[in-house]
Amino acid sequence: MKIYLISGGAGFIGSNYIHYLFNKYMDNIFIINIDKLTYAGNLGNLKGLEIRKNYKFVHGDICDSSLINNIFNIYNIDYVVNFAAESHVDRSIKDAEVFIKTNVLGTQVLLNAAKQTWEKDNSFSNGKKFLQISTDEVYGSLSETGLFTENTPLDPHSPYSASKASADLLVKSFFDTFNFPINITRCSNNYGEYQFPEKLIPLIINNAINYKKLPIYGDGKQIRDWLYVKDHLEAIELVLRNGKIGEVYNIGGNNEKENIFLVKKIIQVLQDEVNDKNISNKLIEYVNDRLGHDRRYAIDASKIKNDLGWIPKVPFEEGIRLTIHWYLKNKQWLNEITTGEYMEYYSSMYGEKK
Ligand code: NAD
Ligand code: TYD
Repeated sequence: MKIYLISGGAGFIGSNYIHYLFNKYMDNIFIINIDKLTYAGNLGNLKGLEIRKNYKFVHGDICDSSLINNIFNIYNIDYVVNFAAESHVDRSIKDAEVFIKTNVLGTQVLLNAAKQTWEKDNSFSNGKKFLQISTDEVYGSLSETGLFTENTPLDPHSPYSASKASADLLVKSFFDTFNFPINITRCSNNYGEYQFPEKLIPLIINNAINYKKLPIYGDGKQIRDWLYVKDHLEAIELVLRNGKIGEVYNIGGNNEKENIFLVKKIIQVLQDEVNDKNISNKLIEYVNDRLGHDRRYAIDASKIKNDLGWIPKVPFEEGIRLTIHWYLKNKQWLNEITTGEYMEYYSSMYGEKK
């Protein structure tokens, strides 16, 4: 039975991953989920799992080395999957400090604890693995052509992506120096259920159903490569189980869209679903551009396809409809998390109430 230590499992991708693992392996795994429950962490994403005998939630900070060492002393951990991070570019532009603490120092604390424990058991080559969940944003920005490969030099632009690139280099250094068993995955923009509505897709859905303006930064022609979260989970699990030690794998959706196209698509799907004339392109409002806004991200995912046989399966039309359905069915979840801190953040960013 494999024992997973998952950090940040109450966030968007982490909570989807935990559900995915229990669906896949049922009682044949044990999961410890450590999460600080920042504004982005929500135990509501994991409802129903508390009663499982093979699940343990730890409310804590990955920067807390004594807590992390304790977890390694109690459990014979096979896999560390590090999702925990401050993940929003706009917040990193406002204040980078917590990004450095969690994303860089927190990663180092996890690396240290895993290394010290696993080297005592001589188990670097026993199938143990430290998987760092990173981002394509570490590569910087593309113009109209070209794709990020695993060999593209790191050139992060935002404080967020700089902190993720720093963490990647630390993780790599543990492999280079100690032969410590790692992989790094760098995925493109995820979308799907449980995503916090500070990110583009859930923000647009939430605003549209509340007849709020739909803010488009700059000219709206920036491009992101959208990856359905459930496709991403399969890729993560493949890399964890079968990825060659020390390797980086890019994970992309092969699905480039301009922001303005995406926003109009969400409006169109909502119109089909709820047939409400108040939800229309008239809600779109062009606002000031993000500072240092990266123009285009696009991933060459041929390495993970050729080496591990992964390709994204869910077409964008289907993924975006599934996502919108989920948010429409889970308005209460949205209402619960778009209070307090969110409202403050929202008005500081967009100059109005939710
Ligand atoms: P998220 O913001 O939804 O969730 C992050 C989780 O980490 C939250 O539950 C939060 O409470 C927890 N956390 C934050 N600081 C912590 C700390 N110090 N100790 C313990 N827990 C802490 O993020 P997400 O979108 O699920 O992203 C997960 C990972 O994937 C991140 O590392 C992010 O950089 C990476 N990533 C995300 C995307 C995307 O599109 N969402 C794309 C590329 C990479
Ligand atoms: P986001 O979801 O924040 O992800 P990332 O910055 O990590 O790619 O933003 C996706 C794109 O949408 C990005 O080009 C910025 C843009 N955007 C807007 O135009 N308006 C918004 O309100 C937000 C949050 C993002």
